[in-house]
Amino acid sequence: MRLQLAHIEPFARGGNRLCYVHPDNPDCCVKVRRPDFTLADCRRKKGFPRNLRPLSSFDDNREEAAVIKALQKSRGETIHHHIYRCDGFVETDLGPGLMTELVRDADGRISVSLKQDLWERGYPAATRRAVEVLADFWLEHLVPSREVLTHNIVVQRGAHDEIRRLVVIDGLGSPYVFPFAWLPKTVRRHKVSQRVRRLHKRIRQFVRRCDSGHEPSRVGMLQHRGVENDQSRSATTTTQTSVAKD
Ligand SMILES: Nc1ncnc2c1ncn2[C@@H]1O[C@H](COP(=O)(O)OP(=O)(O)OP(=O)(O)O)[C@@H](O)[C@H]1O
Ligand SMILES: [Mg+2]
Repeated sequence: MRLQLAHIEPFARGGNRLCYVHPDNPDCCVKVRRPDFTLADCRRKKGFPRNLRPLSSFDDNREEAAVIKALQKSRGETIHHHIYRCDGFVETDLGPGLMTELVRDADGRISVSLKQDLWERGYPAATRRAVEVLADFWLEHLVPSREVLTHNIVVQRGAHDEIRRLVVIDGLGSPYVFPFAWLPKTVRRHKVSQRVRRLHKRIRQFVRRCDSGHEPSRVGMLQHRGVENDQSRSATTTTQTSVAKD
């Protein structure tokens, strides 16, 4: 039976996808393509030569499911400490939905993105350490990814507000027209180190901008936190259509 999502408020809206809590499973996230930004729109937005690729190659859900499956096969279950679990597709009234682990804090609320966390709490030593751990993991496993962006990482917190883990929930796959694994290992290592360096730089710049009073875009800010009577429901409920990257 098709899952009915259209009548539910998504908990987040990215540039490409809408994210819902599965109506029958509070620990499962269902991601569908944004109806107002189709695969054809996505392809049109890309410049030459990427716009020559087939439509299916712009499908984030499809690529993410395949990459995570391949990583799990080659590196084992440990990858799920920092990369969320994907559990295949379900038919929904908004098209095919990718079912994934829904990352929640110990208090049951959906974990916020690193971007939202940095905006709300700054960049204390504990967060810096957690970013280092994620960076080491990326390098150790030479994870195939596009740029690692703060709104594509979520910060899972434990019962004492400590950071349990950073989990990447988007941006996996090859940034090239061919699979990342086809590159020689030394080149892959170089590329991954560059991405990690740029992640650190992006965080420093973002924190500096926040410190100087610049309010970030709503991209990567939750619309709600998946629990009833959530006190933290805030201005983040505004509809966001911007795809600006901080
Ligand atoms: N499984 C998850 N658990 C917790 N939060 C999530 C999960 N998946 C997505 N999110 C939240 O939803 C937001 C949007 O999701 P996602 O990045 O998958 O959308 P997108 O459209 O692919 O993003 P982009 O604009 O980067 O292309 C994320 O920034 C994150 O805050
Ligand atoms: Mg994203």
